[in-house]
Amino acid sequence: MKIRRHRALAAPLGALALCLATAPASAQTAPARPWMNAKLSPDVRTKAVLAQMTEEEKLTLVFGYFGTDFPPKTFKAPAEARPGSAGYVPAIPRLGIPAQWQTDAGVGVATQGGAERKRGRTALPSGLATAATWDPTLAYRSGAMIGSEAYASGFNVMLAGGVNLMRDPRNGRNFEYGGEDPLLAGTMVGAQIAGIQSNPVISTVKHYAINDQETDRDTGNSVIDPVAARSSDLLAFQFAIERGNPGSVMCSYNHVNGIYACENPWLLNEVLRKDWGFKGFVMSDWGATHSTVAAANAGLDQELGWPFDKEPFFGAPLKSAIGKGEVPRARLDAMAGAILHAMFENGLFEKPVTAAPMDLPKEILEFHAWVTRRGAEDGAVLLKNEGAVLPLTPSVRKIVVIGGHADKGVLAGGGSSLVYPVGGNAVPNTEPKTWPGPIMYYPNAPLDAIRREAPGADLRFVDGKDRAAAAAAARQADVAIVFATQWAGESFDVPLALADGQDALIEAVAGANPKTVVVLETGGPVLTPWSGKVAGLLEAWYPGTAGGEAIANLLFGKANPSGHLPASFPRSVAQLPKPAEPNAGDTTYAEGATVGYKWYDAKGDAPAFPFGYGLSYTSFAYSGLAAKPAGGTISVTFSVRNTGAVRGKDVAQVYVSGAGWEAPKRLGGFQKVNLAPGASTKVTLSVDPRLLATFDKASKSWKIAPGTYKVLLGHSSRDIVGTVSVKLAARTLPVGWRP
Ligand code: BGC
Repeated sequence: MKIRRHRALAAPLGALALCLATAPASAQTAPARPWMNAKLSPDVRTKAVLAQMTEEEKLTLVFGYFGTDFPPKTFKAPAEARPGSAGYVPAIPRLGIPAQWQTDAGVGVATQGGAERKRGRTALPSGLATAATWDPTLAYRSGAMIGSEAYASGFNVMLAGGVNLMRDPRNGRNFEYGGEDPLLAGTMVGAQIAGIQSNPVISTVKHYAINDQETDRDTGNSVIDPVAARSSDLLAFQFAIERGNPGSVMCSYNHVNGIYACENPWLLNEVLRKDWGFKGFVMSDWGATHSTVAAANAGLDQELGWPFDKEPFFGAPLKSAIGKGEVPRARLDAMAGAILHAMFENGLFEKPVTAAPMDLPKEILEFHAWVTRRGAEDGAVLLKNEGAVLPLTPSVRKIVVIGGHADKGVLAGGGSSLVYPVGGNAVPNTEPKTWPGPIMYYPNAPLDAIRREAPGADLRFVDGKDRAAAAAAARQADVAIVFATQWAGESFDVPLALADGQDALIEAVAGANPKTVVVLETGGPVLTPWSGKVAGLLEAWYPGTAGGEAIANLLFGKANPSGHLPASFPRSVAQLPKPAEPNAGDTTYAEGATVGYKWYDAKGDAPAFPFGYGLSYTSFAYSGLAAKPAGGTISVTFSVRNTGAVRGKDVAQVYVSGAGWEAPKRLGGFQKVNLAPGASTKVTLSVDPRLLATFDKASKSWKIAPGTYKVLLGHSSRDIVGTVSVKLAARTLPVGWRP
C-alpha cells in the first residue's frame, strides 16, 4: 500500500508512523457530513468536521511531505504527490477532506529541480517586475492566470506571494518580492494573492518575516526594533494579508530577534494571529521547523517539506507532546482548524482538484502568453531615453544586438520558484546546472522579436564576449542594443555590480556608438556606472516566458513603457544602510523602518534612479491637487493629463510627510491611469491612516499626532510637482484596525 511504502522509506524516524491510512473502526460508517454544505460558513464547517476527527486525522493535516524524491536523505516522495512538486499533505477520505497538493510559486507553476520531468508552464515576469507595474488590477489578473494553471496542473495550494521588503538590493530573492515600500509591495502582492485564490487554490504569503537576505538564511538572525518592524516589513505583510486574504502564511528560515521565525510567539501568536486577526494557517518553510513544543505553542500550524527538517517534529513527537500535555489538545484543534478553515474558504472541498497531465493544452498557453507579455510590458522601466532614441523607428536600418544571449531567450531567476517553460532552456548547460540552477533562459528571444518588428533592417547579433568586436559592430550600426544580465536566485545573495565584464562591454559599445540602448535583465537594482554614456536604458527585470516579445514591443513603441521603479537604484554600495556584504549570524537592521527611498531621503543622498521613477513615450501633467481630512485620514484629489502624442499609462504617486517619522516622507497612495493623447482623468485617493501614524508600543496602537501634514504629488519619489497641507486631529487606531 502506497502510504506504507512511503512510511517505510522515511522510516529512520519511525515518528512518521502516524496512522495516516488506518481509519478508526467508526470510519466504516460514514458520518453525516454537514461540513460538505458550502452554504455554511467556513467557521461552522470547520467546527463540524473537527468534531468528527480523530487525533490521528488532525495530526495528518499538520504534517506535509516534499513532493519530489530527495536522494541525499534517501527520501522517496509519496506516490500520491504530484510528480516533481513542492509538497503534499495526505487526504482524509473518511471525512471527504482532500489532499493538499502544493506547488511553487510567485511567477507560475514551478517544477522542483530534482524532478525527472518538468512541466512546461507560463512564467510571469518576476514579482519585482509585477510590482513595477504599480497596477493591482494587472497583478490580480496575473495571479488569476497562474492560479488557473496551478489548478489545471493538479494543485490546490500555491506557495506564492513573496512580500519580504527590499532592505538590501543584493538579496538574491528580491526578484520574488515586491520592492522596498510596504504600501506598494503589500498592495501588489496582495492583489496577486487574491487573483490566485480566485481559483479553488490556497495561496500563501511568505517568508514571514524579516527574511531579507539569503546569506546564512537557514540560521541567520535578523535583529530589528519591533516597533520599526511594524511600519516596515510587517506592514508589507499586513497590507498583503488584508488585500489578498491568503489562506496561509509561510514562516521563514531565519531567527528574528533571537528566535526562529517558525517558533516565534511574537511573530505568530501575537502579531499575526492576535493583532491582525489572521484566520488561516501558518506553514513552515521547507526545513524551517526546529522544534515540536515551542513551534506548536508559538503558533506554527503545519510542518512542511519533510524530510528537510532534522526531525518530523509535527509527526510522532507532536503526538507524544500532546499526550504529555506539553502541547494542549486544544492547540491541535486550532492547528487543524486553521488549515481546514482555509480549505473551506477557498473552495477546496467544492471543486476538488484532479491529477493532471504534465502538458497543458496549447490554446490555454497561447492565451496565457498574452497575459504574461502584458505584465512584462507594463513592468519594464524606461530609465533613460536621451534624444528620444526610443522608440526605434522604421528609419533605423542597421541594428546590432549585443550580448545577454538575446539571440536565444530571456533570463529567469533561480531556486524553488523556477518555472520551466514549454520548449526547454534556451541556453542549456551553464553552471550551476542543479538547484538553485539551472540558469534558465526562456526560449523567447528578443532578437527574433526585434527581427519581426524591423523586417527590412540589417540586423546583426554579436555575443559580446569580444568587447572590441562588439564596439566595431556598434560603430557601423544606426543603433546598438546591449543586453546585460544578472542571474539571482534562492540561497545566495548577489553583488550590486554586473559581472563578467558587462560594464566594460557597455562602456566600449557606448564609446563606439552614441545611440546605444541598454536592456537590463536583472533580479533587482544593479549599479549603472555607464548610465551617463548610453542614450537608452530599459530595465526589463526577469520578463517571463513572453519576455523577448515584450522587450521588442517596448523598443519599437508597440507598447509604451509604463513601469516605475519599486526600488531605488543606488549609485554605489557605499550608499546602502549596510555597505558591507550580507553576513552570517546577526544582521542588525539599525535603519529600522528607514528602508529604500526613505533611507536616501533621510540621508539627503541621491540614488542613481529613485523609487517611483520611470519614463514613457508620452508625458503627463498634474493639476488641481487638493487634500482634505476625511474619515480620520486624508483624501487627495488631482487630475492627470496625457500631454504627449501617444497613448500611455501614468503612475501618479502621492507621498505624505509628517513630523517625527523615520523619514521625510512615505508613499501614501498611487494610481495607474491609461490615457489617450490629450485626455485627462480625475483621481481620488485615500491615505491609509496607518501611513500617517507611528506605532506606539506602550499602548499597542497606531497614533496619528495632531498637526499639519504635507501631501506631495509626484512622478517619482524625487520628482514632486505639487504640495498641499492638511491639518489632522489626533487619532488612535487599535492594533487590529483594518480598512
Ligand atoms: C523556499 C520556499 C519554497 C519551498 C518549497 C524553500 O526552499 O524558501 O519559498 O516555497 O522551498 O519549494
